[in-house]
Amino acid sequence: MTRFDPLHESLTFTSLKDTVVVLTGGASGIGAATVRLLHSHGARVVFGDLDETAAKSVVNSTSSTDVHFLKTDVRSYSENLALFKLAFEKYGRVNHAIANAGLVERPGWFDPRVTLDALDKEPDLTVLDVNLKGVLYFAHIACTYLAHGNESERKDKSLTLLSSIAGWKESPGLFVYQASKHGVLGLMRSLRLYAPEVYPGVRVNAICPSFTDTRMIAGVKDGVVSAGLPVQTPDDVARCIVGVSVAGPGSKAVWYDEKEASGVHQRKTSGGADWEDTKRRGLNGRALHVLGGVCHDIDEGLDRTQELWLGQEMSKIVEAGQKGLGDGTGWVKGQ
Ligand SMILES: NC(=O)c1ccc[n+]([C@@H]2O[C@H](COP(=O)([O-])OP(=O)(O)OC[C@H]3O[C@@H](n4cnc5c(N)ncnc54)[C@H](O)[C@@H]3O)[C@@H](O)[C@H]2O)c1
Repeated sequence: MTRFDPLHESLTFTSLKDTVVVLTGGASGIGAATVRLLHSHGARVVFGDLDETAAKSVVNSTSSTDVHFLKTDVRSYSENLALFKLAFEKYGRVNHAIANAGLVERPGWFDPRVTLDALDKEPDLTVLDVNLKGVLYFAHIACTYLAHGNESERKDKSLTLLSSIAGWKESPGLFVYQASKHGVLGLMRSLRLYAPEVYPGVRVNAICPSFTDTRMIAGVKDGVVSAGLPVQTPDDVARCIVGVSVAGPGSKAVWYDEKEASGVHQRKTSGGADWEDTKRRGLNGRALHVLGGVCHDIDEGLDRTQELWLGQEMSKIVEAGQKGLGDGTGWVKGQ
């Protein structure tokens, strides 16, 4: 079982001073808490959101000249680009990028009341567009801005993507939301070996919050609370996001806790991701589940236990196949 401690002493939050962070969905909930936390550590924040009124109150609450809002619809490529352009025009660099904006399930999908005639009406894909298309656009632009000018400087840069517990655990009723959040984890997995090689200094991680007290869970909060389950605050998740952003080379904030899952610590490395590489590369390729403010890595556990659930023989074949993929550029060669 692998834990990440966002308050670990090896995390130097002072390194955030004067860094430039671009973030989406900063007007409310987890995003607003992240903007405030970043600002409290001296970061300069440029954030986008659709909700101008709420965004302005976040900017006012920081009473800062270093927190900027630009009205942004993450479904638009050019509006994502404008956000990064604004940060670059103001400060000449981007140190960290956080794709946080998201939308919960909308009605209309898999409704048993829908009749054959009603199927003529195409169901709504806004949730997919915000949660996955928006994150793809953001990540694509972010990688280039983060790496820009970093060939020689090799400053620690990070891209953090908001997935969800719905990114890995079945979530009945969250059809499009769950598909989109699996997509976000998939994007992180496809980037985690690739990005640090081709974009100097860039680490990529995903955060998978469980129930967090924002308007997103308004419809189910009472049920969760009455079942005695923990509901964390947006600040809990913000701490994890910001902790990951500063967990650069040398960070010791992630460790394997043998006590809680003895017997499964079988492999040093697996799957192609070098999990022991935190010293050189910093925290990279993690999918961190956050519940009650406590962060557990999902992906390293999957890798470490691969032989338990896939068997040794099949695991070897899979590993050989992964190696055969090389740096991943082969897929688009010749197109
Ligand atoms: N709250 C939870 O329990 C929970 C659990 C798992 C994952 N998450 C994820 O955390 C992230 C933040 O969610 P939250 O809980 O703070 O919800 P929230 O609704 O409080 O915040 C989401 C923000 O995204 C913005 N947004 C929505 N559509 C947008 C668009 N098209 N363009 C720009 N901005 C847009 C909203 O205006 C809002 O400010 C989301 O990606 C969400 O899926 C939340």
